[in-house]
Amino acid sequence: MSFYVTTPIYYVNAAPHLGHAYTTIAADVMARHHRQRGEEVFFLTGTDEHGEPVADAAHALGIEPQELADRNAERFKALAPQLGASNDFFIRTTDRQHEATVQEVLSRVRENGFVYEGTYEGSYCPRCADFKAENEIDEGNRCPIHHIELTREQEDNYFFKLSAFQEPLERLYAEREDWLAPRTRYNEALSFIRSGLRDVPLTRHRLKWGVPVPWDSEHVFYVWFDALLNYYSALRYAPQPAGAPQGLAGEDLLGRFWPASYHLIAKDILRFHAVYWPALLMAAEIELPEHIFVHGYLLMEGEKMSKSLGNVLDPFAVIERYGADALRFYLLRDVPFGQDGSVSTASFELRYESELANELGNLASRTIAMIVRFRDGTVPAAGVDPALAEDFAGLPERVAAQIDRAELTLALEEIWQRVRRLNRYVEEQAPWRLARDDARAEDLDRVLATLVEGLRSVTVLLWPYLPQSAERLLGALGAPDLALVNARLGAGSIERVSTIDSLFPKESPSG
Ligand code: MSP
Repeated sequence: MSFYVTTPIYYVNAAPHLGHAYTTIAADVMARHHRQRGEEVFFLTGTDEHGEPVADAAHALGIEPQELADRNAERFKALAPQLGASNDFFIRTTDRQHEATVQEVLSRVRENGFVYEGTYEGSYCPRCADFKAENEIDEGNRCPIHHIELTREQEDNYFFKLSAFQEPLERLYAEREDWLAPRTRYNEALSFIRSGLRDVPLTRHRLKWGVPVPWDSEHVFYVWFDALLNYYSALRYAPQPAGAPQGLAGEDLLGRFWPASYHLIAKDILRFHAVYWPALLMAAEIELPEHIFVHGYLLMEGEKMSKSLGNVLDPFAVIERYGADALRFYLLRDVPFGQDGSVSTASFELRYESELANELGNLASRTIAMIVRFRDGTVPAAGVDPALAEDFAGLPERVAAQIDRAELTLALEEIWQRVRRLNRYVEEQAPWRLARDDARAEDLDRVLATLVEGLRSVTVLLWPYLPQSAERLLGALGAPDLALVNARLGAGSIERVSTIDSLFPKESPSG
């Protein structure tokens, strides 16, 4: 089994913000979960460095596009480990090997008869690097996303015959209903296709900053075709993922990981992924990805958070104060994955206190503390309480089924219900009362063994969301095994526990 997950590649015209962090975190949760299942996983993220948005931003700063790209690519590259993201490779579209693949694949699209010369005339948003159809233009000839005035473009281009894929795309949507989720986005893409597809520019004539068109040196490829191909090109030159079986060095990863299992994107780039991308792959005779999942926007004060709108919440600041795990948890817990949701410092602090600190943090500290206090740190050799076993039955499978559908918030909720169940169990059983009565020693043994095993089980399942904290806690339980097959309540065999500092301190060291 193999699993290949991608994020969009981010534009280097600006610095990373929470919106970018969001998709990277989500992809990381999926990658880690699949590694827990013992699958071979490849997780790709990177930067989109060509095109007008980058060229314009560099021009405004009075520097070369390559210089801006180098500068900002570093910041995106640095963000991933700060988020705890375990990506196997970081692609940059200025990588020579990527450019070669773009040229090769798009030449094949031309040889297959899907490219012709023409003149484009229409409205264009330089921030989106996108041509707008009449029904996509806001009042005052403005971009609906960036609210800036659209320019009128007339240019001789090579065109991609998108219209030739109207029927194949309709068939794709009919035959593979799970190819794009959530359903609202599937419907949106399908109705766009049904409304009639027009051919689109494949190259830009006046722009210099892009991948040169091999058959006409006056043109560069339109940035979106260059960018989309990153998902494919990366597998041709990325090094082997960590932990890959020996002897695979130098092997082309395409054979093992293509087609991609999941592309994660937000709805701003739906049309490119849901329409252009499958059409392009069909034109190049390349197998289509299995799934696209479209998450919503993180909103601040009701607007999409974006650098160009200037309303960003700084992920670096949050991580510095509370750690990456808290941010990962907050974003996937507070905003239902797949829907838009508002984020704020106030709601972050609320989740941190009431759930991470008071629910999980307390459960961990009091479980460990009671075993230390009543049994000198040795976990009693008792079976798990059947009353609780029932509430945990089938949990790893349910979590896996949700994550298979990229339902990351629902999966987390499944786990969190069990965190709450364990806290209720503590209250119901009141181990401190059992400890006062020698005749109830066996009951106390069972309660403590059940609690610590329940804690282990939820912690293994939480690892994709809270990797650092989960590893620390499992270390204290002497149970480092992360395999999903052993996440089941009762599969563990903890012998001793040791105390650790609070997992989610209420007063941060710096605050
Ligand atoms: N370079 C293109 C993508 C090419 S993919 C072949 C691009 N880059 S971007 O820097 O603008 O990143 C867009 C993506 O960043 C969104 O699709 C989403 O994954 C993430 N987000 C950026 N802002 C976001 C929010 N405010 N909320 C949620 N996700 C956000 O488009």
